[in-house]
Amino acid sequence: MKLKQSINLAIQDAFKKAEINETPLAVSEATKPEFGDYQFNGAMALSKKLGKNPREIAANIIENLDHSGIIAKTEIAGPGFINIWLNPLWIAAQCDVAEQDERLNIQRKENPIKVVVDYSGPNMAKQMHVGHLRSTIIGDTLANLLTFLGDEVIRQNHIGDWGTQFGMLIAYLEEQDEDGSVSLKDLEQFYKDAKGRFDANADFADKAREYVVKIQSGDTHCLNLWQKFIDISLGHCEEVYEKLNVNLTRDDVRAESFYNDDLASVISDLDSKGVLQESDGAQCVFLEGDEIPVIVQKGDGGYLYATTDLAALRFRANVLGAKRISYVVDARQGGHFKQVFKVAKEAGFVPEDVKLEHIAFGTMMDKGGKPFKTRDGGTVKLIDLLDEAVVKAKAAIKDKESYSEEEVEALAKIIGIGAVKYADLAINRESNYIFNWDKMLSFDGNTSLYMQYAYARIQSIFRRFDGELRGKIIIGDALEHRLAVMLLRFEDVLERAAEDASPNQITTYLYELATLFMRFYEQNPMLKEGVEEETKMSRLLLADLTAKTIKQGLDILGIQVVNKL
Ligand code: ARG
Repeated sequence: MKLKQSINLAIQDAFKKAEINETPLAVSEATKPEFGDYQFNGAMALSKKLGKNPREIAANIIENLDHSGIIAKTEIAGPGFINIWLNPLWIAAQCDVAEQDERLNIQRKENPIKVVVDYSGPNMAKQMHVGHLRSTIIGDTLANLLTFLGDEVIRQNHIGDWGTQFGMLIAYLEEQDEDGSVSLKDLEQFYKDAKGRFDANADFADKAREYVVKIQSGDTHCLNLWQKFIDISLGHCEEVYEKLNVNLTRDDVRAESFYNDDLASVISDLDSKGVLQESDGAQCVFLEGDEIPVIVQKGDGGYLYATTDLAALRFRANVLGAKRISYVVDARQGGHFKQVFKVAKEAGFVPEDVKLEHIAFGTMMDKGGKPFKTRDGGTVKLIDLLDEAVVKAKAAIKDKESYSEEEVEALAKIIGIGAVKYADLAINRESNYIFNWDKMLSFDGNTSLYMQYAYARIQSIFRRFDGELRGKIIIGDALEHRLAVMLLRFEDVLERAAEDASPNQITTYLYELATLFMRFYEQNPMLKEGVEEETKMSRLLLADLTAKTIKQGLDILGIQVVNKL
């Protein structure tokens, strides 16, 4: 249900009838319940144009507004605001439709587009660390959300699997892996050891350098070693994806190495478009307004991160056919993407109508406001963090006795991982954020546990009810009215969140919804003796729709629900 749009249409209709030849401003949610459900604030802006006082204009709009459909009541407030109350019969009927529908009456987009979401992108030479957490879960949420709304989403995991450091790593792998037992369980350590050997032993260093050239020229032995290294490293990442309940598979990997054969033609195409310049022996693109050029090829012939991204951009636009390309990457890479996007447009690598966006996010900080590190100052491995979340969640489960051991285990996973993801998704993605176990594993406040608890609570009502859900929703009091309107807002919220790539708009909504439901539930008994059948059914239906909405919302965030908590 596109609620806002439906209200806007009613206003547009009134404009036509009132012969106001202007497009009305869109309505907005009322800031307080006393002001109704929605507000139209467009009369003030028309005052000058129409040469009338805004209250007069508002009155004229109201006179011409249909008060028998979606809108039941209006009121002029202050200088000319129109407060709007929706029709309880109309909203009840819409809630009934949503409750009956698998998609909660949310239509798929009429004009879906192909969207590439570039996220996660770990580097194969190193352990996945907490910095990759944000990219992975924000990106996955965006991909889930756009898919749900009907776009054709192409997930791209742009892993870093190419570069000079792999010469050293595979030379070391060859030495260490004589019996094929190297697990690379600790990539960080493996890297350190390889580097140690490189610095200490000139023969090894020579070999490492030789291997770089060999991988690049397609030597089978070296490529096999390289492939083995990547497979093991990627396997570790997949363990993390699995734990995180993230929808990334090996099919979504299109690594840096994939673009390798195209890099020479990126340079020659930039040249033939006339945007290439030599500077200090390097091939560069100078962009207007930028002092520092984009280097696309070093003096020694080597290519750079930007060169690969240019190749990837044109592949995504021209081969994959994407109309929106979203890069979910750390804010600190903002300069890089700005430049790459500009060069790509200037060189005609991507058509003008393709939307390129950097979905930037801030850094994860510890309680002291410093970038998140282990006690001894190392980077925190993502896998350790997730395991710790599950251990902590287990401790938070109250009456463990009522569950089997496996149930506790499964529950702890859902709660712990959900908490980590939700805490991250619930903050404005561009801000840095403070990682706080106690806060994220709390039953109170805007947490996944609160949401999972609200969901489980509704399920427990239905366990006690144990009957057949019949009848229809009837709006009885003001709280029911607000809850119903809140439920109908879901699609608007999802659309905005997709547009802005802001998962926190979803969490904010879910939190408001769950809070409102809890109040409704306390005031409006369902299964108590003496509640009339009609009322009981209506309340149960509202509860059911609330549960389904919470579940759908969490599902988009990649967070599971439980029936009992
Ligand atoms: N591997 C990069 C990093 O860890 C992220 C890749 C992002 N995607 C891209 N197309 N550049 O910083």
